[in-house]
Amino acid sequence: MEFTIKSGSPEKQRSACVVVGVFDNRKLSLSAELIDRASNGYISEIIRRGDMEGKLGATLLLHNVRGTLADRVLLVGLGKERDFRDREFRSAIRSAVKLLNETGSYEAVLYLTEEKVKRREVVWRVEHAVVVAMEAVYRFEQMKSQPTEVRRPLRKLTLSVPQRSDLTAGEKAAAQGLAISHGMDLARDLGNLPGNVCTPTYLGERARELATQFPDIHVRVLDRKECEELGMGSFLSVSNGSDQPPRFIILEYMQSQRKAKPCVLVGKGITFDTGGISLKPGLDMDQMKFDMCGAAAVLGTLRAIAEMKTQVNVVGLIPACENMPSGHATKPGDIVTSMSGQTVEVLNTDAEGRLILADALTYAERYEPEAVVDIATLTGAMVVALGHVASGLFSNNETLARALLTAGDDAYDRAWQMPLWEDYQDGLSSNFADFANIAGRAGGSITAACFLSRFTKKYDWAHLDIAGTAWKEGKEKGATGRPVPLLATWLLAQENPAA
Ligand code: BES
Ligand code: MN
Ligand code: ZN
Repeated sequence: MEFTIKSGSPEKQRSACVVVGVFDNRKLSLSAELIDRASNGYISEIIRRGDMEGKLGATLLLHNVRGTLADRVLLVGLGKERDFRDREFRSAIRSAVKLLNETGSYEAVLYLTEEKVKRREVVWRVEHAVVVAMEAVYRFEQMKSQPTEVRRPLRKLTLSVPQRSDLTAGEKAAAQGLAISHGMDLARDLGNLPGNVCTPTYLGERARELATQFPDIHVRVLDRKECEELGMGSFLSVSNGSDQPPRFIILEYMQSQRKAKPCVLVGKGITFDTGGISLKPGLDMDQMKFDMCGAAAVLGTLRAIAEMKTQVNVVGLIPACENMPSGHATKPGDIVTSMSGQTVEVLNTDAEGRLILADALTYAERYEPEAVVDIATLTGAMVVALGHVASGLFSNNETLARALLTAGDDAYDRAWQMPLWEDYQDGLSSNFADFANIAGRAGGSITAACFLSRFTKKYDWAHLDIAGTAWKEGKEKGATGRPVPLLATWLLAQENPAA
């Protein structure tokens, strides 16, 4: 979809559709008011008849409204004016775009971006309108033999800003929103692809393709032998049962104008998680194709910042493999030696994410990083703790944690901080190796983070457990593209450090 920014009166727009808001209860927004005046009170007449109360997300499409130059006027309910915040703004945009995409308009002018949102400026509204619009029209149909065609899809959205002086900033915000959306689309596509297509080898190829598309990104893909030479015994132990060869993907984007140390993003790339010999139950196991969504988020974030040409140094690291049972597979009780030299007793082969991340986190040391953030669909317990709303955030550095939480809040891709206290470390003790890969059932997400913390002593580090946020279940089953918005927003903030 294409986006442009404009400033001007709604009744004067020559467009297939002009979109204006109505607050609950029956209160016209300023732009709806202007249409109402131009049409001699037509809008207020309709509202008086009770066809549009202004309930959040309600829509009413009007044709040939007198006194306007547009073919249609779309009224969108905004809910109570004093409750109009991030969530409500985004939900109103979503309703409008979904309706526009399903009805006849190829193109529309959206006035909802003129509505005041608490704590947010016009650039926030524009960026989020773009992201939400792109999200609303996303479809994954590349595996269908007969893609369902949208008859008249929305092709172009013009976003209105209150003043001409907002145009330049608005255009930049729209471009940022679009870059983030392209990153999310990439992450969603990769997540949605089935395990028989999206293999470790495939992820490596897609990383190479990204580097071709964006010459500022440099890629290296290591195979099993190269990983062996690096001593990645923990990572490789997970891939033992699989016929698919493992890949260790390295992406470098070094565009900071200062000699800044890089931020390293580490993404869990399990392209399918059967649990291995500690086999998972059958119900919903198909969802374990999403176990590479951390990897997808790293690729998506790099795509976003490369498109924005953000002046930062970022490294992406992706350990990618399948977790399968077989005669070659790692068994419960096996002891593996990680790249750090620490030995791990694999008490449960289904706790494989932490095993592959361990070696990637050790590999990250060579960059003397500013910060390392790993992103992983790591624990089912995270879904129990925070549901599908917030990602779990763990960190050994409060400043870093704050920065990520703030980025998540700004991007409406929120994280919630979890404790990483020493008291949780005990459960990992082993009689036979340096430590085990699991602790008891209690606090499973925290003990998983504790395991990772044993490989991150040399730098500031944060861990995002995205098990509950990376994909949706049920009727809308599919990858979400999270936490690309959080990560891209965090990196953008590094470009212009506040201090
Ligand atoms: N990929 C799973 C975590 C997961 C499960 C994410 C369900 C989303 C939904 C991970 O590899 C795993 O299997 N974790 C185990 C750890 C346990 C064996 C300590 C889990 O959470 O059950
Ligand atoms: Mn697992
Ligand atoms: Zn897993």
